[in-house]
This record gives sequence, C-alpha cells and structure tokens, in this order.
Amino acid sequence: MAEMSPETGDWTWIDGQVMPTREARISVLDRGFLYGDTVFETVRTVDGRGLFLDQHLVRLRNSLARMGIDFSFEDQWIEQLIEQLIERQVNATDVVLRITVSRGDRLDGALDGFGCQPKLVLLSSPISTNIASKPLELIVSSHQKTPPEVIDPTVKSGNYLSAIRARDEARVRGADDAVLLSPDGVITELTSANLFWVIDQTVFTCDGDLVLNGITRSIALQLLKEHGIEVREGRFRAIELKRADEAFATSSIQGIRAIGSVDGRALASTDPASICQDLIGKYLQYCRHVMNGTTR
Ligand SMILES: Cc1ncc(COP(=O)(O)O)c(C=O)c1O
Repeated sequence: MAEMSPETGDWTWIDGQVMPTREARISVLDRGFLYGDTVFETVRTVDGRGLFLDQHLVRLRNSLARMGIDFSFEDQWIEQLIEQLIERQVNATDVVLRITVSRGDRLDGALDGFGCQPKLVLLSSPISTNIASKPLELIVSSHQKTPPEVIDPTVKSGNYLSAIRARDEARVRGADDAVLLSPDGVITELTSANLFWVIDQTVFTCDGDLVLNGITRSIALQLLKEHGIEVREGRFRAIELKRADEAFATSSIQGIRAIGSVDGRALASTDPASICQDLIGKYLQYCRHVMNGTTR
C-alpha cells in the first residue's frame, strides 16, 4: 500500500519506514502535538545530498542538548534516510526536508519531559521550481518576536506561535511575510528567515542574540565580509527599515531572497547593480563549490 508514489511526491520516514506523507501518523500523546515540544531542521537537497547538512546536524544536536531531549544519532544514518526518501522521487531530484525530533510520548500525561521516548520523523517534498523567483513583499508585524529570556532563539524548536500569527497577519494584509520586532522595538527577523537591509552600501542585520543563528545568515555574512562590504550587526529600530535602499531574506530553503517592499515602500533589491543581486550570485557559486567538494 505504501509503495504507491503519491502524486505530490511527499514522502515521510517514520518508525523505520518510508511512506507517503498523507499516510504517516503520530500518536495523540506525542509531545510535539501536545506542546510543540520538538526541535527540527529544514534542509534542501542538491543533487540528492543535503546542502550544508553538517551544519544543520550540528545545530540539531545543539537544539536537542539545550532542550534536554535525549536523542543521539550518527550523521551517516541521517544521510542514508535522506537517500531513501530521495529514491522515492519520480519527477524531482531534489527535495525540501524537515528533520524533526519530538520529545515523544509521555503515557501518564505529566508535563515534565522525563521518561519520554524521542521520535525522529523526516518529511520530504519536491522543491518547487518557483522558490525564490519573486521578491518578497513584507509588512512589519504587530506580533512580537518571543524574547530570548523566554525562548532561546538559537534553539530551532517547534514553538512558532508568534511567527504563525505574524504570517497570518501578512497574508491578511496581502504580503508574503512579516518582520518581527522585539518587545522593545528592535528589528529581529522574518517568520522563518533572517533579515538584512542596505543603507548607503552598508548592510545591516540584527545581532545573533535575538535571532536564529541561520546557516544561510552566517554564509551571507562571510561572503559580504570577504568581498569588503561593510556589515553592521546590532540592534536597530523599525524606523531604520524606512531608510533602506534594498533588503533581503536568508534561509536554507530560499537561499538569498530579494525583498521587493516593506509596508508598501518599494526597494531596489532586484536592481542588477544591487548588493542583494550580487550576493545572490556569490551565494549560488559558494553552494556549487561546497557541493562539488572544492570548499568546505
Ligand atoms: C525563525 C527563523 N529564522 C531564520 C531562519 C533561517 O535559518 P537557516 O538559514 O539556517 O535556514 C529560519 C529557518 O527556518 C527560521 O525559522
């Protein structure tokens, strides 16, 4: 039954088996379902291999350790599971992967996280060909980024409630995504991407204490610095975005993505001479080097 390829190409590895995602099931006692008590990574594959998989697995281990979820794994095992998922693809060679570890079931329903059996689930979906093709239209959300004193932003946990509310607000206002401000009005990041903006040829971004330490963010910072572009990481107020000439988002799935507008104010991020377009080229080249094993 599970051997029929679903038309959507969505496959899941769970409990030692690969099956169409619509057939995969999780227990009603699962802590991810009950409390968002999970950590995860979202990875894209290139030529059948996870792009920057090593870094994703390092961050996954860090998230597990900081959340006290007792789950260990070999990188090679995850690579094999990814291969099994990719083998099922008929019309696509590359997928977006979500690697989730839930703290698992707690049979007596108690809130503390002891005595659970962690569960690994890998979801895969073919990569849509139009990812990153259109500049993002953003709003500044009225929902705030959960402060680091409440939830450590360097942990990639399943708790995305404020991001979900902000994304809904963006949809209602006809935008693609939303900028989240901290409770004291500092520009942090988007709902599932880091944010950069450019004023007078200097690139600005929130410092790493308030945002997820994005893998694409680190590469963007490295490439900008290597190419002599001035970068300022810090705590900047929303008003600064009104002065931006261009802006871009970074994430593993979208890579470097141009931002077309913020709150209806158009930006020059798709201008061929922009820092954003230059960086997109440099990032793609860097990814090719990494996948060909010429840089790592
Ligand atoms: C809140 C948040 N910030 C930033 C990112 C981008 O991180 P990365 O470049 O590691 O994918 C993500 C990715 O999912 C995210 O959820």
